[in-house]
Amino acid sequence: MIKGYIFDLDGVIVDTAKYHYNAWRRLANTLDFDITEEQNENLKGVSRVESLEYILGIGNLQFSAQKMAEMAEQKNTWYVESISNMDKSELLPGSEELIKEIKNKGLKVSLGSASKNSMRILKATKLIDYFDAVIDGTKTTESKPHPQVFLMGAEALKLKPEECIVFEDSINGIKAANNGGFVSIGVGDQKILHEADIVIPSLEGITIEKLNSLIAQH
Ligand code: BG6
Ligand code: MG
Repeated sequence: MIKGYIFDLDGVIVDTAKYHYNAWRRLANTLDFDITEEQNENLKGVSRVESLEYILGIGNLQFSAQKMAEMAEQKNTWYVESISNMDKSELLPGSEELIKEIKNKGLKVSLGSASKNSMRILKATKLIDYFDAVIDGTKTTESKPHPQVFLMGAEALKLKPEECIVFEDSINGIKAANNGGFVSIGVGDQKILHEADIVIPSLEGITIEKLNSLIAQH
């Protein structure tokens, strides 16, 4: 029986995946190359440092550790600028409704995100009080597809992985959920997220009852 719900943040709860992409593109453009949407799929769910390493690999470029730290900082400055006026209008359809329903039914909610900006976003969107646990890039040492972030979430909720659903919009996040033994729900495109147990286009109209029936059919 499902007792816990673990949400990725960027691209699941809030529409911030586009801002990460824009900021990385801006950085790549300063180095005279670009990042495709397809390449960006591999950046979703990945930590800031590993994203930068991947991007510099696309450009076939190498820099000192010091220069790389400056670039990661620059990208984050641009990203934080783009979310500086964040409010509930950036919530993706259905995310707040589902989180509220879960809490109203006495079930548990955790965040499972790679981002170090997650507290800022949960506070700005006024969702923070719904979360029983927040596991994010400030607490993890491993990146998705390693299941650490979700295992820490389940542990914080005092639940087993098989008692938890993970909602993810990234290929690496779905792999992480599967690697940890969670029920994985891809939020987005079936073609991209085909490794998920179940794929839904968005959280709009998704209720606990609907989730239970999707799992039963699976
Ligand atoms: C993930 C995003 O949630 O967090 C990635 O999908 C991002 O795009 C990663 O790089 C790290 O985020 P931040 O906010 O710590 O740079
Ligand atoms: Mg995401």
